[in-house]
Amino acid sequence: MAKISVIGAGNVGATAVQRLAEMEIGEIVMTDVVEGLPQGKALDLMQAGAIMGYDTDITGSNDYADIAGSDLVVITAGIARKPGMSREDLISTNSGIIKDVAANIAKYAPESMIINVTNPLDIMTYVALKASGFESEKVVGMSGALDSGRFASFIAEELNCSRRDVEAMVIGGHGDLMVPLPQYTTVSGIPLPELLSEEAISRLVQRTVQGGVEIVELLKRGSAFYAPSAAIVKMVEAILKDSKRIIPASAYLQGEYGQEGIYFGVPIKIGAGGVEEVLELELSGAQLKTLQKSSDSIRQGISGLKL
Ligand code: APR
Repeated sequence: MAKISVIGAGNVGATAVQRLAEMEIGEIVMTDVVEGLPQGKALDLMQAGAIMGYDTDITGSNDYADIAGSDLVVITAGIARKPGMSREDLISTNSGIIKDVAANIAKYAPESMIINVTNPLDIMTYVALKASGFESEKVVGMSGALDSGRFASFIAEELNCSRRDVEAMVIGGHGDLMVPLPQYTTVSGIPLPELLSEEAISRLVQRTVQGGVEIVELLKRGSAFYAPSAAIVKMVEAILKDSKRIIPASAYLQGEYGQEGIYFGVPIKIGAGGVEEVLELELSGAQLKTLQKSSDSIRQGISGLKL
């Protein structure tokens, strides 16, 4: 039985635990700094198992010692955006939290793999890499799985077709400069540009880029968590089942896409080895330009970090 730990029992963390518990994919430990919160949610989720019909063991804890032996640790600890805030506004608070969390993962679960979810995603995943001292293929960020899910959902709505038939690809930083790729997005194998006009595609691209903000503004307190937790589960499952799925995610680049030493959203092959491969795609001039801007802003965020 695999052991999965989720750090942060807030909206994203607890919803991811719920989804994983329902799948019976492994034993789960959920931790948080707030006393009682992970314990209470763990109890509630196990009682739900009696009704929904799952037997997953879920432990709530405030003690990192309980993550010992984890195969996989998902980091969702930190603060989320409020209206008017960009993901970058979270840097100073969340980098302190991630440093502490990653050091504890290295101490108590040195053989594990890390999926970071805390924003600003690409910068915080870099902090997790440095603070854990893990190999870079063992530390990955959840970004593109969510952004492509959003793009796919908007496309399905526009075409009035099943969401299940849309395979979307969104790369770049997990922020306002992300790059949805219509030419690598298909509906049951049909390239998107054959189904929608340029005007419609650019409208949906724009809505995807603003997808997180749209929800933050509606919720008013806190940010999205149903789709983010679903995207986490997609990555956890690919790693634990070694299914080698091709998913966009934030990976440590060493020359790919002309980028060196940063975490950046790219299509990867994800399996038991973590980030097993980075796939390089041909892009348009405009897409390359936005990618460069996006990576510059990540580099700038990293340069201000005190690691
Ligand atoms: N260790 C463990 N847990 C912590 C720590 C810490 N050092 N600091 C904060 N937390 C916990 C909080 O107590 C809270 O329960 O992290 C949890 C965060 O939950 P929410 O505030 O509900 O935020 P959520 O919506 O889950 O988002 C978490 O994921 O998508 C990103 O931008 C989002 O960075 C944010 C993160």
